[in-house]
Amino acid sequence: SPQRVSKFVNIFASAVMPEADDSASHALAPAAQAQAAISSAEFEGAYLEDGKGWSIWDERTNNPGAVPREKRVYLNQTGNVACDFYHRYREDMLTAKGLGATHYRMSIAWTRIFPNGDGAINQPGVDHYSEQIDFAIAIGLEPVLTCYHWDLPQALQERFGGWNSEQIVPIFATYAATIFKAFGDRVLYWTTINEPKTFCWEGYGGGMHAPGISDEEQVANCSLNVLKSHAAAFKKFKELVPGGKISMNLNAEWTLPFDPNSELDKAAAERKMEFEFGVFAHPIFFGQFPESVRARLPYLPEISPELAEALVGSFNYIALNHYTSTYARHKDGATSQIGRCDYEVSHVGADGLTLGEPGDSGWLYSVPWGFRKVLNYVNDMYKPDEISVTENGFNVPGESDMTMDQILNDTKRIKFFKEYTESGVAAAVYDKVPITSYYAWAQTDNFEWQDGYSKHFGVIHVNFTTQKRTKKASARFLEGIFSNAK
Ligand code: NOJ
Repeated sequence: SPQRVSKFVNIFASAVMPEADDSASHALAPAAQAQAAISSAEFEGAYLEDGKGWSIWDERTNNPGAVPREKRVYLNQTGNVACDFYHRYREDMLTAKGLGATHYRMSIAWTRIFPNGDGAINQPGVDHYSEQIDFAIAIGLEPVLTCYHWDLPQALQERFGGWNSEQIVPIFATYAATIFKAFGDRVLYWTTINEPKTFCWEGYGGGMHAPGISDEEQVANCSLNVLKSHAAAFKKFKELVPGGKISMNLNAEWTLPFDPNSELDKAAAERKMEFEFGVFAHPIFFGQFPESVRARLPYLPEISPELAEALVGSFNYIALNHYTSTYARHKDGATSQIGRCDYEVSHVGADGLTLGEPGDSGWLYSVPWGFRKVLNYVNDMYKPDEISVTENGFNVPGESDMTMDQILNDTKRIKFFKEYTESGVAAAVYDKVPITSYYAWAQTDNFEWQDGYSKHFGVIHVNFTTQKRTKKASARFLEGIFSNAK
């Protein structure tokens, strides 16, 4: 509604818009507002509480003996307690509000609603999230929900292989419909599934994520079943939350050609965008997998006309998570976890120079202008009405070994947020990319999947022994940005 839109005044305009004319600034509304983001398995803990079932991440972390040594979570750490968001959500939401956030993105743990994936509803789980949502609204934060952020019920993995099987489709749709019914009266913005590229590739291909399978056919099945599940959930969403908006959080790395003068490398860079973003976005906007991907992946079937019909138009907006950029270099026969892709990825270009400053995860380099590029790419390719940046953040190299003083003075994270909001979001808003929201990842340090507690994305430090939260300087920096919102 117009009233809602007026809340999203562009907070970055002053950085890049001094000469913008009226029509340009008009095009900026609704524009970027900054908020906090979290997910269930990385933050909640309370892994046995209120009837919650076992997820594939509970299984992986609590039975490390079943996982090959080189694929175990760092120091066999678990998300059993994490940052105890389950009990501390009030404190954390109040802090976010205090920093000036207007929205709060969180995920629902499927195993709290259906402990075994389907069957009888676990009412205490529904009540918990209902209270959490009410609390957010009561203090003036708009809750934004993700149905699935990687914590699949273990029962479904055991029963039929989880995302590898089409049996998941109606079961996911029932789960999604249950939470649409329960919370759709209070929640406007939703996503069905977070970063399918990550969990299909890493969970069923690389084996670094739960359920720890390495089989390229399963990666392809997972990708197709994600699309089918999204389509089935979207159908329910239209009936149950008619005024709402829904999307999927898609991985959006920017890719450059390794050698900008090589036609083959240029094609490789385009292909990598299609292997990672297009593999989910093309079916949703154009009804078919990208040609470059289809040609190379024998396991990926064609999308049937019925599925295409169900998919096209099933995004009310594009949600994307962006962290980094890479180079792609053509190489015949090179494979990705889903099969042959004919390119190799690196962070060093043909000129021998590194693309941006490294973060703490091997895949993360700070390339702020790559953010503007990818936002424009997505906008030009798919022409969505609206784009939400549902994650963006940085981990500081060596933070685990720092003194508290060093941790709190996280100037590298500040630099990342400053540059990504200015040269990324604000610049793209200036280019008239319809960005309506921007979520910083993450509010607090948390359980970072296979890296356990060794990698820190939080703008707030958590002492995992006492659960004490302490703001890093970057939290103050975001507060400054948030408070510019009019
Ligand atoms: C994206 C994922 O959605 C999130 O769960 C993760 O913590 C961040 N990337 C950082 O790696």
